[in-house]
Amino acid sequence: MKFGTFDDQSREYVITRPDTPLPWINYLGCQEYFGIISNTAGGYSFYRDAKLRRLTRYRYNNVPMDSGGRYIYLRDGESGRFWSPSWQPTRHAAENYSCRHGLGYSVIGSDYDGIRAHTRYFVPLDENLEIWQLTVLNLHPAKARISAFANIEFCLWDAQDDATNFQRNFNTGQVEVEDGVIYHKTEYRERRNHFAYFACSEKASAFETRRDAFLGPYRGWDRPAAVEAGQLSSGIAHGWSPIGAHQVDLELEPGETRQIVFLLGYHENPEDQKFDPPGSQTINKSLVKPTIAKYLNAGQADQAFARLGSYWDGLLNIFQVDTPDIHTNRMVNIWNAYQCMATFNLSRSASFYESGIGRGLGFRDSNQDLLGFVHMAPARARERILDLASTQLPTGGAYHQYQPLTKRGNNDIGSGFNDDPHWLIVGVSAYLKETGDWTILDEPVPYDNAPGSETPLYEHLERSFNYTLSRLGPHGLPLIGRADWNDCLNLNCFSSTPGQSFQTTTNKDGKVAESVFIAGLFVHSGRELAAIASRRGLNADAASYLAEVAKMESVILEHGWDGDWFLRAYNDFGGKIGSKECEEGKIFIESNGYCTLAGIGLNDGKALSALAAVGEHLATRHGIVVQQPAYSHYYLEMGEISSYPPGYKENAGIFCHVNPWVMIGETRLGHGDRAHDYYTRINPSAREEISELHRCEPYVYAQMIAGKDAPTFGEAKNSWLTGTAAWNYYAIVQWILGVRTTLDGLEIAPVIPASWRGFTATRIFRGVAYKISIERKGPGNQIALTVDGAPIEGNVVAPPADGRKEVTVKGVLS
Ligand code: GLC
Ligand code: GLC
Repeated sequence: MKFGTFDDQSREYVITRPDTPLPWINYLGCQEYFGIISNTAGGYSFYRDAKLRRLTRYRYNNVPMDSGGRYIYLRDGESGRFWSPSWQPTRHAAENYSCRHGLGYSVIGSDYDGIRAHTRYFVPLDENLEIWQLTVLNLHPAKARISAFANIEFCLWDAQDDATNFQRNFNTGQVEVEDGVIYHKTEYRERRNHFAYFACSEKASAFETRRDAFLGPYRGWDRPAAVEAGQLSSGIAHGWSPIGAHQVDLELEPGETRQIVFLLGYHENPEDQKFDPPGSQTINKSLVKPTIAKYLNAGQADQAFARLGSYWDGLLNIFQVDTPDIHTNRMVNIWNAYQCMATFNLSRSASFYESGIGRGLGFRDSNQDLLGFVHMAPARARERILDLASTQLPTGGAYHQYQPLTKRGNNDIGSGFNDDPHWLIVGVSAYLKETGDWTILDEPVPYDNAPGSETPLYEHLERSFNYTLSRLGPHGLPLIGRADWNDCLNLNCFSSTPGQSFQTTTNKDGKVAESVFIAGLFVHSGRELAAIASRRGLNADAASYLAEVAKMESVILEHGWDGDWFLRAYNDFGGKIGSKECEEGKIFIESNGYCTLAGIGLNDGKALSALAAVGEHLATRHGIVVQQPAYSHYYLEMGEISSYPPGYKENAGIFCHVNPWVMIGETRLGHGDRAHDYYTRINPSAREEISELHRCEPYVYAQMIAGKDAPTFGEAKNSWLTGTAAWNYYAIVQWILGVRTTLDGLEIAPVIPASWRGFTATRIFRGVAYKISIERKGPGNQIALTVDGAPIEGNVVAPPADGRKEVTVKGVLS
């Protein structure tokens, strides 16, 4: 069953009934100002950091789940009836409801009682504000008197404090209203130099800033007393809960359309120009007024919207493909690329499942996000790499996360995850392959943000590599530390205290438990680092990295192999995890996926055997589960993984993030059909028809789909912010379609399904447009290439030395 439909032409998903199984959301903003918006206008906004600079309030875990947002109410002056064109919060039986989620905007509306209304929400490029363009059309044969009420609830900036510290917060709320603009200035009088504003293009007949007065006692957003009465009372909030509400009264002739622009924005004043007049307590508004005036103009708003469209055209045009599979095309060309931008921007901080107060930007996560994003905004990727590396510790280890506003690492969600440092190598390597910008390796970058500790970035990569070498366990495999990629495989935390964090508790000395996954990652990142070193002429470095990689590879083959597949780990007693000898958790996806991705066991049949075992034991029709059999009870020595009921999350859920490792492994074995089949099983577009089961948005990946041991097998959770976005994009584009960036140029190495007759693609790479067409003449993956008609040796096409800006690449598979 579907709740909407893809409009690929417009690059939109059109939701046609509002009662989706879960809120189906979109992101507004792609630089510094962000908003989350659901298909019924729920959600909230923030500047840069969802925890520390929250503009509007949102109550997670509410009922209905999605309550609070960018709500507009319309009220008919004759009948007194009122409703919301976005369905929520009044939930009237509207007709022709639709929500068009597009790239950086959403348009939500419906018809009710002869009035058609929709609102377009978006954030203009390079501005810290959002625009709501409300259009109202009178379908009655007679004149209509309609009042529009637009409303938001301010958050008192720190979202954590806002939700907990009421003894203070009920006293601090402050607003100003000037020329019809509502300014929210809580704490501006003391240490803040920023405020929010809510403005309206029409002369409002009234406003309200007191939530109590707007809602009335014992009422919710679905039935505000002031809207019911048809009149706001222009009150000023003192403490309690400041809101912004505008009332605009319209008279519409039959067939007449009117547009109203509302602006919600954020502004920072220079410290010495906070007040006007100086010495007063009144906000200096002179610096923000021109911006407000500009965008309240509907023509300017339309222009800003058009610019946003061109911006996304430009980004998506960097890679476009036409294959025989519509789900591949749609995800690669539009939605998967779009999701990669959101995960790059927000990491795992703010979605409908990540509260915005739990996690900042993850070190491991953000580095992996680069794989799917670096081609779209290399300059921002560069900045991110340097920010991440600046939080690296002198040991080469990493804080697990940093706060985007302060760009400082912290231990709030743990540290000592021994895989973390390697993702920096993977991220930098992806950046170099995309851009060829070797200067980044010479950038002076501090450790733990300490001034004076700077070394060239290259040394950070060396320290990442050496971090593992100085932390090897009894078998010569890397010690796991707090955990590796699987945050929940906590082998040094024997926790029996309810509520104790698995991510921050360690009570074993950590000298025994080892990770085969980190070993595979080390082999991969070590080869990347060696390639970087040898391109820089550091041949001795390169040779020593490769020697360590070779050593690790043989250790894996000796101590990390279980007979038919790769082991997962050794626990604190030196016992095996992910082995036939285990009663539960006999085989895991991570070590088998990553070791084959890294090319381990390709020549001796081990990779083939490992992935066959994955296919037999872990693959399901909804995707590949983390391990089997699921842990049926809590194991003290395993940590959080066994705390989840079977089939959920890391305990045998389908963790979509790691499925692409197996897809890539399959391409390394030349198995195009298998790789693409796995790709399709978790492709959200291919799952659209089962939306009632899948429940999450059909246009973006979710972190998890319930595994076969779960009663809700096939149900997705935690959509949007997941490493799944970057890894699936990387797997389909670079390994299945095989349009792959390398240090020397663009490699063309498709491993596509046998039934595909070929595909065409355009890739803009280092300023050159590659027009690629692949034709299948035989069943295999052998490729012969011509570039502008001339056959070339091998399959790497370097950017043309003569400065041509476009090349035609033809490939024949046999
Ligand atoms: C979450 C985390 C990621 C981790 C994964 C597996 O997605 O953000 O860092 O690797 O869970 O535990
Ligand atoms: C929990 C989640 C895991 C996440 C971790 C870190 O352990 O299960 O997916 O990565 O928290 O926040």
